[in-house]
Amino acid sequence: MLDLILSNARLMGTDELTDIGVREGAFAPPEMEAREVIDLEGGLVTPALVEPHIHLDAVLTVGEPRWNLSGSLFEGIAIWSERVQDLTIKDVKRRVRKVLRWQLANGVQHVRSHVDVCDPELRAVRALLELREEIGQQMTLQLVAFPQQGIQSFDGGEELMKKAVGLGVDVVGAIPHFELTREYGERSVKFAFALAAEHGLQVDIHCDETDDDHSRFSEVMAAETIRLGLEGRVTASHTTAMGSYNNAYAYRLINNLRRAHLNMVTNPLDNSVLQGRFDSHPIRRGMTRVKELLDAGVNVCIGHDSVMDPWYPLGYGDPLQAAFVLAHYGHMSGHRELKTLFEMITYNPARALGIEAYGLEPGQPADLVCFAAPTEMDAIRLVAPRRLVLRGGHVVARTEPARTTVVWDGKEEAVDFLR
Ligand code: FE2
Repeated sequence: MLDLILSNARLMGTDELTDIGVREGAFAPPEMEAREVIDLEGGLVTPALVEPHIHLDAVLTVGEPRWNLSGSLFEGIAIWSERVQDLTIKDVKRRVRKVLRWQLANGVQHVRSHVDVCDPELRAVRALLELREEIGQQMTLQLVAFPQQGIQSFDGGEELMKKAVGLGVDVVGAIPHFELTREYGERSVKFAFALAAEHGLQVDIHCDETDDDHSRFSEVMAAETIRLGLEGRVTASHTTAMGSYNNAYAYRLINNLRRAHLNMVTNPLDNSVLQGRFDSHPIRRGMTRVKELLDAGVNVCIGHDSVMDPWYPLGYGDPLQAAFVLAHYGHMSGHRELKTLFEMITYNPARALGIEAYGLEPGQPADLVCFAAPTEMDAIRLVAPRRLVLRGGHVVARTEPARTTVVWDGKEEAVDFLR
């Protein structure tokens, strides 16, 4: 006897309707009887969504202590350095607890958060480490030691990184394009790789997040990955400068990124508004070469980056909203590309984060998301609500789809925005 059957599901990447069985918290073949049956009415079903890049310590701080009037990255960094002054563990936890709930409601069950370590007391790191324990098995949370002000260019930067690793973060970060010199940047990348290798941790670096085509630290990451044998365990985030490189250099770089099995994270929400700020027309898009990387066989994921912080005042933690923006900003509106966008918020980031028990096959943990839309195209088009989120076979979030009516020829009729 199964615990649950979800009937009339349309699994991502398929056209037919199918039933999904759940027994003892895992997916099971659906042939048998079940104690409970839920009819998904043809809704699209995916595995748990995976958020590979967010800055939880900064969420919901927009307007504190002042608003970012220019909307630029640099004004955002200046405001954050002021806000950090009155950070407390309680303040961080209160904001993060709220956003984790938003993420779960959106179907996100695995989160990798960068956490600023440029604070001699490491308040944000301590708060997030406590929360990682507190949330237990409800979601999985990976923490990246992220030096917002640099490792070589911030007083005591190396020591703070080591201290964060000692406290128990999962991943080592860096921000080489923000260091004072090219040499400092290269040294910071090598430092991060050495620290990660020494402690058996993964690497995830904010790399080349600038429109400056001279910012070329992704090549250093590829070289260090190969040299230390860390293939598959390293992620380069943002890499927006790649959009400004000449084609000959980009071709060579992409080959080396593939050779190093680097995971890439593009953050369309933040970077669509933060980049291109020094351009007069034509204004560059300021994004990495998503389609060329995918064509080369590189693992590319979509990240959300910010939720209502000094860099990005919008967002509610929904990866589908980021995918919607990438469909436009990244020219990914082709029919198969719309399906690829779903891979980029599920299987691709699961691989980047090293999540092994993942997917909809029998035996995997019964973690899934059912959308209030029948296809990938409709789900992206409508940024469709998550009607059901399952974790370990239990319903952990529900959304009642909105009911809309119009009055036409004097009669009220329902509108569902589906053809
Ligand atoms: Fe970021």
